[in-house]
Order: sequence, then structure tokens, then C-alpha cells
Amino acid sequence: MVSIGPLPVPGRLLLAPMAGVTDLAFRTVCREQGAAGAVSEMISAQALLYQDGKTRALLRREKVPGLYGVQLFGKEPEILARAAKKALELSGCDYIDLNMGCPTGKIVRNGEGCALMRDLPLAGRIIAAVRAAVPVPVTVKCRKGWDSGSVCAVELARIAREEGADAVCVHGRTRAQLYSGRADWDVIREVKRSVDIPVIANGDVFEPEDVPRILRYTGADLAMAGRGAMGNPWLFSRGAAALAGEPVPPMPGVRERMRVARRQFGLALEDKGEKIACLEARKYLSWYLRGVPYAGYAREKISRVTAAADVERVIDLICRELTGETEDRD
Ligand SMILES: Cc1cc2nc3c(=O)[nH]c(=O)nc-3n(C[C@H](O)[C@H](O)[C@H](O)COP(=O)(O)O)c2cc1C
Repeated sequence: MVSIGPLPVPGRLLLAPMAGVTDLAFRTVCREQGAAGAVSEMISAQALLYQDGKTRALLRREKVPGLYGVQLFGKEPEILARAAKKALELSGCDYIDLNMGCPTGKIVRNGEGCALMRDLPLAGRIIAAVRAAVPVPVTVKCRKGWDSGSVCAVELARIAREEGADAVCVHGRTRAQLYSGRADWDVIREVKRSVDIPVIANGDVFEPEDVPRILRYTGADLAMAGRGAMGNPWLFSRGAAALAGEPVPPMPGVRERMRVARRQFGLALEDKGEKIACLEARKYLSWYLRGVPYAGYAREKISRVTAAADVERVIDLICRELTGETEDRD
């Protein structure tokens, strides 16, 4: 079994951190479908130290067992170190992940996220400071580099290893690429060859078969899926089957999809209250209908839910109209 520091990882596919997506409710359903670990949405170190409420709510740990990392972003070693301590204290997370890959304009303009790949000495000081501040493993998530002329994932991974990081996760795209083109798995392979800490391969794991493919191709210890898991937590159970060389079960039908969507919504309701849970459900409920024929009318209804009762009604409608049967609610 692969370990991150002393932590054994119960599987080989992790859920990637995604702001606005991987909240407590979604992390829970992914874990229930076999995700070996999950990472919080990215959390501003500065906001965690100096503001209340919203930022702290992002930290809450899901109740189902499994590896949980909190991801922090920032640029000042001292602030990140203090924030890491606080995140650990408040959440009881298993490890701290440092964001060095976020490409968003307002983050990189501020010298944070992927901008740290343009200042490797500072990235190193951040890793060292956080390493010294917390007793749990520290991981670094980066991209291939800033742009095609400044590919530096290998260099950053070496620095991370030197400064005491316990694993490094590489998304095989540059900042300039954002999410376009194909992820470069060769660079992940190079990173794996260059460091002796676990490497997590990330980028374009969309189908169950991609899990053994990315692991074999890159030699990485673990894989991580982001967009492919949206509305599709079965990527984890089906990916595990593919990895074990077993027949991959087909995508579940509408009934099972709606069972899990209802569960995700119920958890979100508990965690965030009706107003926010409903606004967010407008986005992710539709994802559960990917590939389902004649779903246009249901999507239209989903885009207008404002109360928990609307969500229940639209899920019932989907179960009735798109499967010809009403879902069991036991
Ligand atoms: C909506 C969205 C939000 C994201 N938010 C984060 C984030 O908060 N922290 C992070 O490190 N990466 C974030 N990412 C990047 C993903 O973690 C991942 O590296 C990227 O999507 C590539 O993996 P994939 O091809 O499996 O989606 C985000 C990606 C998306 C699509």
C-alpha cells in the first residue's frame, strides 16, 4: 500500500481539490464510492487567519473515514505556517496540501498558486516553514510549469523533497494552458524518476481505464481525478475495478444516480443550509444526468430550484420520467 509519510492510502485514486465543487457533501459521496482520499477546496491562508465563518466552514471534515487533506494557498511562509497549524487544529485533517498550481488571474497576480512556480526559492521556503509548523504530512500540488518555456515541475519536486514534503502531485499542464489541450503525462513520469517521495499523477483521468493507464505510463504511486468525477463518483469504484484488472461495471442507471445525487444534496443541506444548498444544486444535479437521453426538460427544472422541496420534486420527476419508475427512498 502506498503511504504519504506515515499515512497508508487505502487505494490509488484520490479526488482532486476543486474550488466550488469538492465541498464536504461531494467529498463524502466520492469517498462512499471508493475515493482513497480527498482534498478540501483551496483555502486562503490569509483568510483563515484573519477572517471567520465562510473560510472555516470550508475546512470541515467529512464523517466517513478516509484520508483528508486541507489545501492552503498563499505566498508568505510565516502566514502559511500559522494557517497550517490552525487548519489542522480546526479540522483534524490528515495532511496539509500546498497549492502551487492554481492558474486563476487574481491568485497568480497576487504571487500565489502557480505564480510560485516562477519563484522556486520562495516555494521552497514555504514548504520548509509549513513542514516545521505541523506534525502531519505536507504535500505540494503543482503544474507542469508556468508556460512551455518554463517547465519546472521536476525542479520544484526536488525542492519539495529537500524541504521535507511527503508527496508531490503534478497536473500535467502549464499555467498558460489552463485546462486546454491534453495533460502531459511525460512530465509526470520525469518527476517520478527524479524524486523518491510518492508522486500523484493528475490530468485527464476521465474514464475508469485511465486510472491504470496513467499509473502505468507515469510510474506514479497514486492518481488523482478532478473533472471526471463531477457528477460521477462511480469513477472511483469503476476505476478500482479497472486497476484490479476486473470487468468494469457499466455506469449506473438514472435511479442509482439520483439516489447519490439526493444523498449529496441532503449532506449539503445539513452543511450549508437550504439557500446555498439549492443554488449549488442547480449546477451539480445536471452533472449527474450526463449522457442521459431526453434530460433537457429536467435540466431546465434543475436550473430553477430554490427550495429543498423543489429539489426533491425534480429528482422524483427524473426518476419517474427518465426511468419509468419512482426511486426507492430507503
Ligand atoms: C472547477 C475547478 C476548480 C479547481 N479548483 C482547484 C483548487 O481549489 N485547488 C487545486 O489545487 N486545483 C484546483 N483545480 C484543478 C484540479 O485539482 C486538477 O488539477 C485539474 O482539474 C486537472 O485534473 P482533471 O483533468 O482530472 O480535471 C480545479 C479544477 C477545476 C475544474
